[in-house]
Amino acid sequence: MGRMQDKVAFITGGASGMGEMMVKLFTAEGAKVVAADINTDALKAKWDGVENVDYVKLNVTDADNWAEAVKTAADKFGKLDILINCAGISTEKGMEDITLADWQRLHDINGFGTYAGMRAVVPYMKEAGQGSIVNISSYTALVGMGYNPYSASKGSVRAISRAAAAEFGKDGIRVNAVFPGVIQTPMVANLESSKAALEGLIRMTPLARLGQPEDVGNAVMFLASDEASYITGAELVIDGGFSAR
Ligand SMILES: NC(=O)c1ccc[n+]([C@@H]2O[C@H](COP(=O)([O-])OP(=O)(O)OC[C@H]3O[C@@H](n4cnc5c(N)ncnc54)[C@H](O)[C@@H]3O)[C@@H](O)[C@H]2O)c1
Repeated sequence: MGRMQDKVAFITGGASGMGEMMVKLFTAEGAKVVAADINTDALKAKWDGVENVDYVKLNVTDADNWAEAVKTAADKFGKLDILINCAGISTEKGMEDITLADWQRLHDINGFGTYAGMRAVVPYMKEAGQGSIVNISSYTALVGMGYNPYSASKGSVRAISRAAAAEFGKDGIRVNAVFPGVIQTPMVANLESSKAALEGLIRMTPLARLGQPEDVGNAVMFLASDEASYITGAELVIDGGFSAR
């Protein structure tokens, strides 16, 4: 029997990178998964006809869209055990370059999107008396990397995760956050960072490599699963030791 047997998981950002990997890992361990993303073409291309995967268009900044998507998932599978808030955007712009519109968009998607997701699933989890939420923050919320506006949006994810863990523990809902380092996904490939910058990062990483989506996916799966039944409010750094230095 798989580690996620009979679990129903809703995973945002499920069309690319880490979210896509989580859909694969969770279903391989027996879960039924709803992959949610704003990119419907990618959802369709990746998940059409794949067993135990359903997909739904979701803009995480839209609270009404969240309510509909979560209801569709719960109606279809009869319950909702797990939410993974993985959808996100990044920018390399620093404090002096960013516009107010850039700031707003980052915080809408990364911060509000995570909050809106938790708010949408909590009623279902409360009714069931159990649930597990894992939010994807970033190592940039913990160390000064010069990506001020992105760091701030991921700091918001960190803070609301702890607050939600404290608020909903009594309802049997666990909330944890993970802090990936640089992970090789389309997000990183799309950044303008030069090869030299990434090589510099690798030199400063004790495990001397970039992370892979499965490095994060496996850790998230542990936190989401019943194996982590006494873990809530935890902050798990998955960065090859970068921030330990
Ligand atoms: N790759 C890294 O190095 C890294 C490091 C730390 C944290 N993270 C975080 O991990 C998460 C996943 O990143 P990734 O590297 O897999 O990126 P990715 O770009 O491969 O995937 C992100 C997904 O989020 C979706 N998305 C964007 N805006 C959305 C919206 N408004 N509504 C719904 N979906 C939306 C995109 O369509 C995409 O499929 C993000 O939250 C990111 O900030 C990434």
